Amino acid sequence: MTSLKTTKDGSELAVVVTGGARGIGHAFAQRLAQDGFHVAIVDTVGAEDSALQLVRAGFSAKGYTANVTKADDWDMLLNDLVSSGKTLHGLVNNAAMFAGMEMLNFEQVTRDEWLQVMEVNTYGPFLAIQKVTPLLAANGGGAIVNMASTAPLKGITGMPHYVSSKGAVIAMTRSLARELGDRGINVNAIAPGFTLSEGVFLNKEQVEKFRDIGKNARAMKRDQLPQDLQGAVSFLMGLDSSFMTGQTLVVDGGAYFV
Ligand SMILES: NC(=O)c1ccc[n+]([C@@H]2O[C@H](COP(=O)([O-])OP(=O)(O)OC[C@H]3O[C@@H](n4cnc5c(N)ncnc54)[C@H](O)[C@@H]3O)[C@@H](O)[C@H]2O)c1
Repeated sequence: MTSLKTTKDGSELAVVVTGGARGIGHAFAQRLAQDGFHVAIVDTVGAEDSALQLVRAGFSAKGYTANVTKADDWDMLLNDLVSSGKTLHGLVNNAAMFAGMEMLNFEQVTRDEWLQVMEVNTYGPFLAIQKVTPLLAANGGGAIVNMASTAPLKGITGMPHYVSSKGAVIAMTRSLARELGDRGINVNAIAPGFTLSEGVFLNKEQVEKFRDIGKNARAMKRDQLPQDLQGAVSFLMGLDSSFMTGQTLVVDGGAYFV
């Protein structure tokens, strides 16, 4: 059984994982729970069930139905976390509009679609960081991990708004690493290749388009799975990476070399 990570006065160290109801986010929550953190799972749908799976497996977790773009939702869940005696150690900004997105030519993307993707994929993580920073700083610092993608590094067709949003996440990671370094908070990003999360199967066209292209482009020619990303989040949330900030860790089986 994993021993819980605690502060000197015995308070459980907590990590918030957004978009943790399924796919890569759930795999992150699982790994961070195994690492001994209390995991607060945030999602618009399925957060409680996802947390229950971890609790049933003997871990410490709680689910919150919340939208990452809503300030009131952040206040609700962070108040609950603090009032239940937890000490916030980190944030994983994993929620995004991605799986199930329609593949569009760039001429087809409307202003509303562009803004919606940008709101969830860039403003959501930014707001999350604004909200958790006072708590992390009050505890002497912490770790923030943003989910980027190799899509903006390579450039892919069919999702220009999504690709642009993930490029912005990499830029935001660098900008906020500079803003928050003095407060003891490191900010890094993970850039995966096309990963067979359960969500990607919602859009057959997306799987057909990217699965083989992704596999063939890799030095290691196999499918990428959510579990392939667990080690990276564990490292970036842990003390071994505490002097590393502003970086984007590419985990894609060797398709894109930084
Ligand atoms: N799967 C891939 O190929 C791949 C590749 C590179 C990067 N990524 C990134 O990894 C992350 C997870 O990917 P996935 O494949 O598991 O995606 P997914 O779409 O299956 O999961 C995203 C989760 O975020 C939640 N979510 C969406 N909007 C939200 C909001 N406003 N508030 C709260 N929760 C919200 C969804 O309900 C879902 O549970 C995303 O950031 C994605 O962009 C995925």
